[in-house]
Amino acid sequence: PFQVYAELRENTPVRYDEHRECWDVFRYEDVQYVLKNPKLFSSERNRAGTSMLTTDPPKHKQLRDLVNQAFTPKAIEALAPRIQEITDELLAPHLSGGRMNLIDDLATPLPVIVIAELIGVPATDRREFKEWSDVLVKGARDDSEEAFQELEKEKLKNIQELYAYFTDIMEQRRLKPQDDLISLLLDAEIEGEKLTEEEVVNFCILLLAAGNETTTNLIANAVRILSEQPELQEELREHPDKVASAVEETLRYYPPIVAIGRVAREDIELGGKAIKAGEQVISWVGAANRDSVQFERADEFVSNRKPNRHMGFGFGIHFCLGAPLARLEARVALHTLLQRMERIHLAPETTLEPIQSAFVFGVKEYPIQFN
Ligand code: HEM
Repeated sequence: PFQVYAELRENTPVRYDEHRECWDVFRYEDVQYVLKNPKLFSSERNRAGTSMLTTDPPKHKQLRDLVNQAFTPKAIEALAPRIQEITDELLAPHLSGGRMNLIDDLATPLPVIVIAELIGVPATDRREFKEWSDVLVKGARDDSEEAFQELEKEKLKNIQELYAYFTDIMEQRRLKPQDDLISLLLDAEIEGEKLTEEEVVNFCILLLAAGNETTTNLIANAVRILSEQPELQEELREHPDKVASAVEETLRYYPPIVAIGRVAREDIELGGKAIKAGEQVISWVGAANRDSVQFERADEFVSNRKPNRHMGFGFGIHFCLGAPLARLEARVALHTLLQRMERIHLAPETTLEPIQSAFVFGVKEYPIQFN
């Protein structure tokens, strides 16, 4: 889609889409302006359940402060050995065979297992947990009304099951708190009041919905770039300290989330266009990240790019809470793949099938072969 974004960024940097009934914003500067002004562009959408992702100040900060401590770079760095262990376990069955399905065998299970452990889901429930987590972000099988209805029904049932499941775990944690997010949230207070059970569950669901598929796609998008660039593979294999900046560049070049939605709170002029209060505004991060006003050689993957002010994790007050965790998981995954495998490449005769969502950049399957 990046070619299309480039044309739109050049020709109609801010435009109204009659069909989708929303504004689209493509330039780096304008995207940043939208994201850094929550007073003008609200995150509140009519969604079932409220979460920090869909609230504005001051409520937003109250919610975010509850879990911030668990997601600081320092707190997350402590998970490195465990993330390494999970990665090794996931890779082990595939190493001697010389091929694996990167997405199903590593990029999907890794973030699910890590977040399950952080939240406090017992390892014995992991299989069910993964299924719930998958349904949360599942897309309809086609464009038909029937497929849409079917999906809605499945999602509703899924949410009910997740609620029942978490209610059970909350019960146990109330009796005996553990060192996990559920216990932390049950204990947390906003202005002297404990969170309701519903708020605690919503929090957990947010972490699953926001963190799993995105991290899967980051890992897969990075490996996709490596498979296409054998020299880069060699370089990173010899200099593992360069993996971190290659991950950053992946977030710029192939961002897992390419678009972020807001709603205008008042009448605003942007890029010479008049946006009215109440209208939807989509910030195209995927376009902004390739804006040559901000980035030299914007359409090239420059693995050691510095500075790299990409907006792959958003910008401003809603900047991704899970960024340190996603970065760490991607770093460990890439580093381990590079150390254990040589000449990683896409399995021959594979047709890449993009994920069917305008907001997401990634592929459904990525089978690799290696020496
Ligand atoms: C927010 C991207 C991984 C939790 C965001 C936003 C983006 C984003 C673009 C901003 C949304 C907005 O402004 O409306 C990504 C990408 C990831 C990733 C590309 C992986 C590569 C994670 C992980 C977690 C997570 C692993 C949790 C474990 C969240 C939460 C928010 C958020 C809770 C809302 C923050 C707020 O509203 O203050 N993410 N994310 N994300 N992300 Fe991530």
